[in-house]
Amino acid sequence: MRLLVCGAAGFIGSNFVRIRVRDHGDEVTVLDKLTYAGRRENLRDVDHAFVHGAIEDPDAVAGAVEGAEAIVNFAAETHVDRSISGPEAFLRTQMDGTYTLLETARERGLRYVQVSTDEVYGSIEEGSFTETSPLNPSSPYSATKTGADLLVASYVHTYGLAASICRGSNAYGPFQYPEKLIPLMILNAMHGDRLPVYGDGMQVRNWLFVEDFARGIGHVLEHGAPGEVYNVGGPDEAANLDVVRRIVGLTGADPGLIEHVTDRPGHDRRYSLSSEKVRTLGWAAQVRFEEGLERTVAWYRDNAWWWEPIRSGEYRAYYERQYGRALG
Ligand code: NAD
Ligand code: TYD
Repeated sequence: MRLLVCGAAGFIGSNFVRIRVRDHGDEVTVLDKLTYAGRRENLRDVDHAFVHGAIEDPDAVAGAVEGAEAIVNFAAETHVDRSISGPEAFLRTQMDGTYTLLETARERGLRYVQVSTDEVYGSIEEGSFTETSPLNPSSPYSATKTGADLLVASYVHTYGLAASICRGSNAYGPFQYPEKLIPLMILNAMHGDRLPVYGDGMQVRNWLFVEDFARGIGHVLEHGAPGEVYNVGGPDEAANLDVVRRIVGLTGADPGLIEHVTDRPGHDRRYSLSSEKVRTLGWAAQVRFEEGLERTVAWYRDNAWWWEPIRSGEYRAYYERQYGRALG
């Protein structure tokens, strides 16, 4: 297929493009604004065309979409903590950006896939969310992702756009920016920096290896019905403290580095997705959490070229603002 993939210089999009080009022979144009989270290096081994621009810029989108049969949208501001300290960029990208892409897809009659998140359903104490569960987001990040999903649904309903939505659970794996729990803890553990666990660390997440998520999005693109939502959840759940302890074990770090810090405001307690519906398209998770975490730790250990520029750049100032202490 000829694809326009937006936001693919980031974590999940770059893994998606690598798999689509390598395993499916797709021709891909990437449109990416290259925010702090977007890096050309993430795609240095993948054949693709690249357009530097924002999804909320109609001219950039019009230039990039030429020749595409479908748009897959990963582009978003994605970090809950940053949405709490500065929500504005989340509104611009999630709302204005998604709107611009939807208009483009409508004008040209293109297939459209919106990459979304389990966080739109909010927190669940027991059981798992299905695609018909009520939307109940709690952070500016998840609220703007929900707004984007609702806009996509309105284009299906009103204009008959051939759009599907794919909601993933917490993804982890190679190329994830170290503001998120797993890469942050791996790099801190490798460097002997403190491991900051929010609150009691008993919040539960449903962990999904990034390649499984990328393959799930591909299934939705190829086999998903227009107008439908598909949840793609990981095979295992784990409490944050358990995840951090496993990383301590895998890196050989001192367990005394674990430090409980002030909790995130409005922190969701547990996310959990039912993936029954996407399984009917032939998808199943292939990587259990134990194996995926080992592979992820090994990747960060072996790819200092990737994270060294991040840990020595603007990230240091972000880290100090967020955690009130400098990285070692
Ligand atoms: P990321 O932060 O690693 O990458 C986001 C990418 O989008 C970056 O390359 C960035 O430069 C680009 N971008 C941001 N604003 C843009 C704009 N206005 N125009 C063009 N490009 C822009 O994010 P990720 O973790 O790869 O997440 C990708 C998508 O998957 C997001 O939509 C996110 O909501 C969703 N998602 C993420 C997770 C997760 O655990 N990380 C789970 C479920 C769903
Ligand atoms: P994160 O990776 O930010 O993903 P999300 O908030 O989208 O689930 O956080 C995962 C969990 O880890 C979440 O419960 C918050 C927690 N967390 C910490 O305890 N310490 C940290 O330094 C970070 C970044 C996250």
